Amino acid sequence: MTTSANAPKTQPRRVNLMAGLRKRAQVAVLPELTLRGVRKVHGKGDAAVVALDDISVTLPAGSMTTIMGPSGSGKSTFLHVAAGLDRPDQGAVTFGDTELTRLSERRLTILRRERIGFVFQAFNLMPSLTVAQNIGLPLRLDGRRPKRSEVRDAAARVGLADRLRHRPAQLSGGQQQRVAIARALIARPEIVFADEPTGALDTRNGRAVLELLRSLVDTDGRTVVMVTHDPKAASYADRVIFLADGRIAGTLEGATADEVAEQLAHLGD
Ligand SMILES: Nc1ncnc2c1ncn2[C@@H]1O[C@H](COP(=O)(O)OP(=O)(O)OP(=O)(O)O)[C@@H](O)[C@H]1O
Ligand SMILES: [Mg+2]
Repeated sequence: MTTSANAPKTQPRRVNLMAGLRKRAQVAVLPELTLRGVRKVHGKGDAAVVALDDISVTLPAGSMTTIMGPSGSGKSTFLHVAAGLDRPDQGAVTFGDTELTRLSERRLTILRRERIGFVFQAFNLMPSLTVAQNIGLPLRLDGRRPKRSEVRDAAARVGLADRLRHRPAQLSGGQQQRVAIARALIARPEIVFADEPTGALDTRNGRAVLELLRSLVDTDGRTVVMVTHDPKAASYADRVIFLADGRIAGTLEGATADEVAEQLAHLGD
């Protein structure tokens, strides 16, 4: 594993981080997420693919982690297993005192609904529901009736306050992606997983989403785990974990976009 301690982060980031740490010291301690010896195989027999191979890592509460690596290296699988959407074949996933891998389907569903937000790589919006209904869905599934102001605020945070009555098919890819982000945040989850949340966004909207995710960490003390192919997006995180062939191939702490790009270029050397 490699760790870069040399180059400093950009100044504004440091200031934000410290403000976040100070603020966090005053709020309740949130749980950390730990993967221990996690192995995940997709498919059977000849078609079996080892997507994750002996992954052990701890993601501290109130931190932002980026997962990077080539296509097929296991990034989405990592997110799904870490978020309790998929069960590993071996190993354990623990969130605070709770071992996700030991929970029944029912308990796991409740935990995900109450404490975990997930932005899927393919958005997974409900086509028959409006933007407002899609954003409010996690609350409805939890037996709550979303307030209009709550839904409007969540939409406004991703710049979609004027699209509440539209259906996903009437939106651009980037707008759909932002709906998926608002939906993941509405229940105020302790940890947010996002699979390429800026993949379909232009520079301006991409930056707005990254700043939003960063503020969840700095201002609200939440934990964010994000997959991206973009070194610039990765530089918003406190730590980058590089995956190659389902294994951790390196980590960087507080890296700049250039350092991330450099490490990416040498993956698999
Ligand atoms: N449901 C599945 N059945 C069989 N193989 C799968 C399944 N899902 C993923 N895989 C395989 O597992 C490996 C890891 O897939 P994963 O989706 O985690 O990669 P990724 O790093 O997210 O890639 P990308 O950058 O393209 O999204 C790949 O080789 C993929 O083909
Ligand atoms: Mg993926």
